[in-house]
Amino acid sequence: MKLKTFHIKTFGCQMNENDSLQLATLLENKLGLISVDTPDKADLVIINTCSVREKPEKKVFSEAGRLLKFKKKKNTIIGIIGCVAQEYGRKIMERAEYVDFVAGTHNIHKIPEIIKKILKNKRHISETNFYNSIPSLSIFTKPCDTAEIKAFVSIMQGCNNFCSYCIVPFVRGREYSRPFQEIIDEICYLASLGVKEITLLGQNVNSYGDKITFPELLLKITEISGIERIRFTTSHPKDFNKDIVDAMKSSEKICKQLHLPLQSGSNKILKLMNRKYTKEEYLEKVEMLKENIPHIKLTTDIIVGFPHESRKDFEETLNMLKQVKYLSSFSFVYSPRPFTKYYNIDNVPVEEKKNRLAVLQKLQKEITLKHNVDSVGKIFKILVEGQSKKRTGELTGRTEDNRVVNFKGDRKLIGNFVEVEITEGFQNSLKGKTYEKNF
Ligand code: 5AD
Ligand code: SF4
Repeated sequence: MKLKTFHIKTFGCQMNENDSLQLATLLENKLGLISVDTPDKADLVIINTCSVREKPEKKVFSEAGRLLKFKKKKNTIIGIIGCVAQEYGRKIMERAEYVDFVAGTHNIHKIPEIIKKILKNKRHISETNFYNSIPSLSIFTKPCDTAEIKAFVSIMQGCNNFCSYCIVPFVRGREYSRPFQEIIDEICYLASLGVKEITLLGQNVNSYGDKITFPELLLKITEISGIERIRFTTSHPKDFNKDIVDAMKSSEKICKQLHLPLQSGSNKILKLMNRKYTKEEYLEKVEMLKENIPHIKLTTDIIVGFPHESRKDFEETLNMLKQVKYLSSFSFVYSPRPFTKYYNIDNVPVEEKKNRLAVLQKLQKEITLKHNVDSVGKIFKILVEGQSKKRTGELTGRTEDNRVVNFKGDRKLIGNFVEVEITEGFQNSLKGKTYEKNF
């Protein structure tokens, strides 16, 4: 069989998206394959999976099942990679015989070799070992948007925190920080391609450490010319400190936006979750941030319906939303996960969980809309990312705090910074008009 094309379908977080970009680079460079946008056109289809909640995990099997028709028609090679692959390993192929290979979270670098073996008629290959250093991390990733303005850069992987609901430490392994010189080299390479904005990725970027600390790394990156915006995610509240705030303050390049997952506003639940901070400690850090960077915008993650969460506990979470006034939040119903401490406990009734989620999301929508409406009349520096998909003649870009702004403008502005005055604030975006002076 002659292998020419591939398609990767990605579920889950930015870390997974970045892994898929690394894999695409490998398949192009090592096997000379071409990426196609739909599975029917591909000779090789890879599903990069997420196991953080049960729903995306279930989707993997339905998604893989849909590929069976291509397998029958033209013997498409099918691979399952990422977190679900790490979790189930070979068992995936026992359940879905038509899957040709499985590669876990530390094994992306092995995929070209696996495919070569499959082309020699081997099947059902499974690679799920963990390594002390993660070889795939040293693959330089391509920019993550088509305009090649933005890119992800992995700085660390894995997690040592073992929050009692979370499968990540089991499927991504222990924390591993990438050598800092390699990170700098990758960012210089991206800057040479014209990338202006990078997002540093890691399960817990605050605990980065390879000769230098995370704030020191941030400062070194600010020195790279061409890179104008630096974002990072995710920060664990227990490790977020004044040194990081000082680094953020010291450079205009570091975006004044922070994703700081709260998970719950109740000290009882935070303790059961093994989050290692109290609501008061979290609020102290938020206050310290707001004092130092008054225009900072925060976003968060919330889980509702964690075991033993009472109505009162839930109300404490709602109060935190009102107090911190997050720009947005990602909220989820608790989903018991294998290997975790609470796998066998799920004692908030499902209807109650759904109801709490709806109440929380309604409140967040109101808070978000208020942020957006309050921005009317203000001037923001926008990095123009492309043409608006919805309205022709309009451009789309993002503010420093990562909100989408649509405005009329010339295509030549794509990839540049522009000052935009906000004219309308909606639920999910802002509308604006270019303001006199362009950068
Ligand atoms: N159930 C529901 N949400 C979860 N998350 C992680 N594990 C679970 C789970 N078992 C959420 C957390 C985390 C985000 C990435 O996913 O809020 O911050
Ligand atoms: Fe999961 Fe907690 Fe680690 Fe985040 S810090 S990846 S929630 S175990």
